[in-house]
Amino acid sequence: MKYKILVLDFGSQTTQLIARRIREQGVYSEINPCFVSLEEIKAFNPSGIIFSGGPSSVYDKDAPKIDPKIFDLNIPILGICYGAQLISYLLGGKVEKSNKREYGPAYIEILEENKLLKGLGKGNKYKVWMSHSDRIEKLPEGFYTLAKTEHSPFAAVAHKIKPIYGVQFHPEVAHTEIGLQIFKNFVFEICKCQADWNMPSFIEKTVEEIRHKVKANERVICALSGGIDSTVTALLVHKAIGDRLIPIFVNNGVLRKNEPEEVLKLMKELGLKVHYVDASAIFLEKLKGVEDPEKKRRIIGETFIEIFEKEGKKFEKVVYLAQGTLYPDVIESVSFRGPSVTIKTHHNVGGLPERMNLKLIEPLRELFKDEVRKIAEVLGLPKHIIWRQPFPGPGLAIRIIGEVTKDKLDILREADAIVTEEMLKSGWYYKVWQSFAVLLPIKTVGVMGDYRTYEYVIAIRCVESQDAMTADWVKLPYELLERLSNRIINEVKGVNRVVYDISSKPPATIEWE
Ligand code: XMP
Repeated sequence: MKYKILVLDFGSQTTQLIARRIREQGVYSEINPCFVSLEEIKAFNPSGIIFSGGPSSVYDKDAPKIDPKIFDLNIPILGICYGAQLISYLLGGKVEKSNKREYGPAYIEILEENKLLKGLGKGNKYKVWMSHSDRIEKLPEGFYTLAKTEHSPFAAVAHKIKPIYGVQFHPEVAHTEIGLQIFKNFVFEICKCQADWNMPSFIEKTVEEIRHKVKANERVICALSGGIDSTVTALLVHKAIGDRLIPIFVNNGVLRKNEPEEVLKLMKELGLKVHYVDASAIFLEKLKGVEDPEKKRRIIGETFIEIFEKEGKKFEKVVYLAQGTLYPDVIESVSFRGPSVTIKTHHNVGGLPERMNLKLIEPLRELFKDEVRKIAEVLGLPKHIIWRQPFPGPGLAIRIIGEVTKDKLDILREADAIVTEEMLKSGWYYKVWQSFAVLLPIKTVGVMGDYRTYEYVIAIRCVESQDAMTADWVKLPYELLERLSNRIINEVKGVNRVVYDISSKPPATIEWE
């Protein structure tokens, strides 16, 4: 790709949407934290730079800033909200510190139809989305106003000569009806980009980069889970260096019914020579007697690292570890605001590259899930992998409440397989975020034939969600719930009661542990 837009993140909740909107135009865009150096920016060679919004006030002691020399690079710049205030502040304008927030819809009036607002028509009014407390009060020298709202006299501004622009509203959110037009104008009219980003071009560029990076005698290892991210990562590396990639698949004993066999079969079909390690006995031994959810996660994570390290050492000249890190994983770890409170530990295999002294290859680290799905399609992955529901790293261990034993795993595997089968059959599987069974640590009384039974309870969890941050339980049809209950009670030995979880997230979480 010749054309690239660099988004500098000043901490806004919607920064990732900016990169998305640009990439939707067919132009590659990447997000970096705002503290990257000018040298790094120059090396990236962007056609344009966007400063994102952010929660700070430019007057805060620890407010994120940027080297003002960036304005001398003669690369077009667009500041959004905090980004616009920062431009104004750094170039000698005035920002008004305010405790009042302007939040929600507002109407801007176009005063000047320059390149940024091309096609919007002088005098027209449009609905935009605002979310700010401070605002620009006086423009720096050389700037003029393009649009205003009732409360923001400088809702869109531009430099008279230099390609520097600012908007007080958020063009990246869907509520700003002219947002797309503004990004199009910035990217094509101002930055003079051409649309040369698509999935085949991304694959080609990535494969080329990996080929270039890994020397002829070096090897790469990667951990395969059978999920889309690790599979796509492995395929990209495999395309670049063939069997110098060593994909390692560790069976941790808490996988779903038939999962190891199915993963191995698929990998073979995809041409990957997988190094398979059945470590289920080791994992189960370590989980013996452990009831605490976080402790289970830790044990599974640590044991995985130990085994992976041991297996990796069986191969010579391994220099790289390929990982299927996606952009949302990256922002969670580099957000300059610091990490948020841990509700559940999700970093299943953190620390591996340092321990093994390996360098990282992360071909998907700029991408969102739906973009990875598009790549998977181009690479020819089957639909059931591309659209598979998420499955947690610690697997069934966090769906067996309390101690994990082989007997309980057998029960849960059967019940879970019935849930998946019925969800697929009824067409609901792909409509929901996740649907699965949970084994509760209690037994209840039942009656079967003339006999009293005293057996386990299975809970069914089925949620809809956009990003797993919030979720709601799905109102599945009674007939489907009835079938699930009947089948589980009749077919799974050891279960005599099924309940349906009707809790939303928050306050409940999706997984039970
Ligand atoms: P919660 O239970 O926190 O789950 O509402 C949100 C999403 O994350 C998945 N999840 C995990 N994924 N390791 C993972 O890789 C974990 O330890 C883990 N815990 C939860 C969960 O399935 C849901 O999609």
